[in-house]
Amino acid sequence: MIQIVYDVKAYRRLLADTVREGDTVVEIGPHTGGSTRAYVGKAKLAVAVDKAEQAERTFGRLAKAHANLVFLREDARGFEAIKKVMKHTKSCDVLAVDLGGGRYADTVFKVWATWSGVFKPRDSVIRSRALAEFLQRAKISDTTLLAEFPDAGWLATWGRATPYKLRRQLDEFKYWIDITKPLD
Ligand SMILES: C[S@@+](CC[C@H](N)C(=O)[O-])C[C@H]1O[C@@H](n2cnc3c(N)ncnc32)[C@H](O)[C@@H]1O
Repeated sequence: MIQIVYDVKAYRRLLADTVREGDTVVEIGPHTGGSTRAYVGKAKLAVAVDKAEQAERTFGRLAKAHANLVFLREDARGFEAIKKVMKHTKSCDVLAVDLGGGRYADTVFKVWATWSGVFKPRDSVIRSRALAEFLQRAKISDTTLLAEFPDAGWLATWGRATPYKLRRQLDEFKYWIDITKPLD
């Protein structure tokens, strides 16, 4: 399932409820771990990615208390970050994205769409006011479109499952690499 919220407390609660015992979680934008602390005890592996120095400092301490927690200080818009996460896991059960609830919808969507295409989560939890407002405003006026989807946390039916489609997506970011080959 793909779930979107804006309120940060609701995001943390939702993420904690969505993560199941033994899950692998990829979390983008954990900041100082307010969202991470809520679920890390349940996860088999949690890989947290944030570009902020403050996040790196906090997670240095947090990772000492949780052997299942990996922190990577990276910009999630770059494919280097994805490559580094792939050294720890090649798929995830839950993908969480919080770049700041007020971030532009296009950036949040692009980051989510790219990462979900690679890690194929069972569930996605996204914090974005703009995406939530877009979905609330939009009405789909086309009866030929699918109304039912498999219960997956990524756009499986849209085609990123195929390397060709994923490649086109990643090419737009100019960082295509063959993810089926061993990484350096
Ligand atoms: C609002 S905070 C996250 C709050 C956190 N989820 C919580 O519940 O406390 C947003 C975080 O996203 C990070 N961020 C924003 N853009 C990013 C990017 N392109 N790559 C990695 N981290 C990013 C920021 O550094 C910041 O730490």
